[in-house]
This record gives sequence, C-alpha cells and structure tokens, in this order.
Amino acid sequence: MQGPVAIILAAGHGKRMKSERAKVLHEVCGRPMIRYVVEAVRGAGARTIIVVVGYGADQVREALADEPDILFATQERQLGTGDAVRACRPLLEGYQGATLVLVGDEPLIRPEPLADLLTRRETEAAACLLGTAIVPDPTGFGRILRDGAGRFLRIVEERDCSPEERAIREVNPSCYAFELPGLWDALERLDTGNAQGEYYLTDAPQLLEAMGRRVIALPCLEPDDILGVNTRQHLAQAHAILQTRIQDRLMEAGVSIVDPRNTYVDGRASIGRDSVIYPFSVITGTVRVGVGCKVGPYAHLRDGTVLEDGVEVGAFVEVNRSTLGAGSKARHLAYLGDATVGQSVNVGAGVITANFDGKLKHATTIGDQSFLGSGSILVAPVRIGSNATIGAGAVVTKNHDVADGQTVVGVPARPIAENR
Ligand code: UD1
Ligand code: CA
Repeated sequence: MQGPVAIILAAGHGKRMKSERAKVLHEVCGRPMIRYVVEAVRGAGARTIIVVVGYGADQVREALADEPDILFATQERQLGTGDAVRACRPLLEGYQGATLVLVGDEPLIRPEPLADLLTRRETEAAACLLGTAIVPDPTGFGRILRDGAGRFLRIVEERDCSPEERAIREVNPSCYAFELPGLWDALERLDTGNAQGEYYLTDAPQLLEAMGRRVIALPCLEPDDILGVNTRQHLAQAHAILQTRIQDRLMEAGVSIVDPRNTYVDGRASIGRDSVIYPFSVITGTVRVGVGCKVGPYAHLRDGTVLEDGVEVGAFVEVNRSTLGAGSKARHLAYLGDATVGQSVNVGAGVITANFDGKLKHATTIGDQSFLGSGSILVAPVRIGSNATIGAGAVVTKNHDVADGQTVVGVPARPIAENR
C-alpha cells in the first residue's frame, strides 16, 4: 500500500436531500460531488484512495468506475463516521503512515490546505492533525473546544453542545490527517454515548490525546472550502461558489465574461484569451474554445465541442460534440451535433444537422468556406465539400454528399442546374 492514504466517507444516505440517490452523487457544476473530493486528495498527494460506501454502494462504485485505482470499503450499516473509517481496516492491514480522512459531501475542499495538513502532521510528528475553520455561522458543524492556553481539548457535535459551546465559531470540517496504525487504537475505544447513538470519528482526536499521543488542531481551512452539502440549498450554494472559482480563473487568464451570474461554465472547459462569453450561455462538459471567440448570448456548448480561434456562436445555437474551424460563424438558432465544420463557414439562421435517426447518431462534415443557407437541414451521415452553397430551406438528404464548389437547393436538395 502506497502512502499517503486518503479515506473518503461516502456511505451515508443524506436523508435531508430527500432523494433516492446517494448524497455524494448529487452534482455540483455537472459532476458528482465526490469527484471533487477525489480530485482534491489526489492533488494533495494521496497515492491510495479508499472510498467508504454503504447506502447506494453500487451507484457510487459505478460513478467512480473510470478511476480504476480507487479502492472501496463497504460499511454494511451506517453506525457513524468512526465506524465508517473502521471499515477500511482490512484494506490497510500492515500500512504505517499518513492517512487523510475526509467526508464525501464537502465538494469545495481544495488540495492546497490538505497538502498542508499532511506536511504539518509530519513535521509535528503528530498522531492527528485536525484541520479546522473559523466560520461566521457554525450551524451544523461539530465545535472545537480548546483550553485556556488554546490547546485542543475535543470536538463536540452540535447536538451534544451546551449553549456556550454552541456559540463557538471554530468548527470541525472533517479534514483530518492521522497516523496509522495509531488511529486504529483510538477507533477501538469509541462508544455510542452521544445524542445520535453512533460511533463518532470526532471522538478519535480526544482519545488519541488521552493515550498520550500528540494531537494538533490547526485553523488552516477557509469557510468556502468546507461547505458541507446536506440539503438542496447547500447544493445550490456549492454550485454558486464553484462557478465563481471557475469563472475567476478564466477571467484571470484573459477571458471576458460579461455577466458571470448569468453564465454557466463547466470546470473542464478551456477558453482562450480575448474570447467573450455573453449572458445566458451554458458551457457543459469538456469544451475547448479558442482565442478571440464570441459565445452567446444564449448559446449552449456541450461536451466534446471545440471552437477554433475567432469562431462566433450566437443566440440559441446549440453545439454538441462538434468542431467549428477558425473564423466560422453560427450566429442564430442553429443545432450542430456530431459535426466537423471547416474554416470560415457561414452557418445560417435555423440550420440543423439532423444527426439522430431514432437509433444512431451520425456525422456531418462541412468543408471550408461553405455557406449554409437559412433553415437548411443536413441529414447525417452527409458530407458537404468546401466552397459549397446550400440554399435556404434546402434539405440535404443522407449520403447525398455535396461536392466542392457545388450549389444545391430545394427539398430534397439538388444541384442548382438540374433544378432549373
Ligand atoms: C460530521 C462530523 C461533524 C462535522 C461535519 C462536517 C461526525 C460525528 N460529525 O457531521 O463534526 O462538523 O461532519 O464536516 O463525524 N458517513 C458514513 N457512514 C456513517 C455516517 C456517515 O460513511 O455511518 C459519511 C456520510 O456519507 C458523509 C460523511 O460521512 O459523507 C459525514 O456524515 P454526515 O451525516 O453528513 O455528518 P455530519 O452530521 O455533517
Ligand atoms: Ca455533512
């Protein structure tokens, strides 16, 4: 087993979501929230990742199926966060070293503070380095109790807090760096003497301390890092914060976003300098936009779309798994799906690539400098040459390819000379 190890707790149902799905699979900015936690621990240097599953275990495994190096531990019954960590013990038999423990419902956690936790635990030779945060509103979190000298005493769950403890604003975000095998000793000593009758992981630091091990609580996390998603309202808050992060990163790299609050950009999208995103545009999935493009208002760029430099995609244009070559324009009311569009192509208003025959999706290819008249329909599979002209309202039927320089009109589309 290669260290550092990261354990991500994801066995709970998340009753407050009022959902059939496991909580960690609810999406923030187009991806299940557990993905972000996985990315964060990887970014912090974790070499082995264990996800504890229970409620909806199969769904969670499936959602992470494309990450073959993730290990799963099953917690049969949800007896609490401490019990969930215990479920990893068989996988970690013989492992000695650092182990991050996080919860799967805090998608905004960034790798940097987690890497700090690992480093500090090592330099301090601590059995537990507990990351904490000081937040304006501590509702819902366990509180951090310290003695008069500021030394860590214990974590108290909100349900178990006295009124004075409830007022404490230093909270437990469930970001721990432990040392194994020491943690197992503490987990063996957990009991269920608390308001929920569960085995609380939050008791582990205090137990380690009582066993004479070194425990440090370090306020190294920002309030935004630790937003826990327990309700749909929290999900929307997480989404808003993540959009701000994604869009700030793009703006810092030279992209103009005219109205950030009315724009949605997936974290996997890349956008080149001097491109402008107009309001009400939605960019989902892995999309690449080149330099100096104009997108929107009201454009929808979907997964697998590539806009090369200087492309314009305007109002009510949807582009899906398609490439538009440099300088091409689709300014109004068009659908381009599974299309490869060359350079300097004019896609008129209302043009549609009919890529789906009810069973399968088919490709459309359009050569450089072609002109697609308003309202034309290209029934895929079909290939339009370069410098071709499709008359307004023409229907190019499938496999009736249009040659370079040819003009076709009508329904079904025919070369213009034949038509006369
Ligand atoms: C927990 C912490 C609390 C902390 C808060 C936010 C405990 C006892 N409390 O409370 O101090 O402030 O997180 O970080 O740890 N889970 C399991 N198995 C279980 C129970 C939970 O895998 O038996 C998982 C859930 O899927 C979830 C995570 O652990 O991802 C946290 O569970 P949750 O019920 O949300 O804990 P909180 O009440 O938020
Ligand atoms: Ca929670």
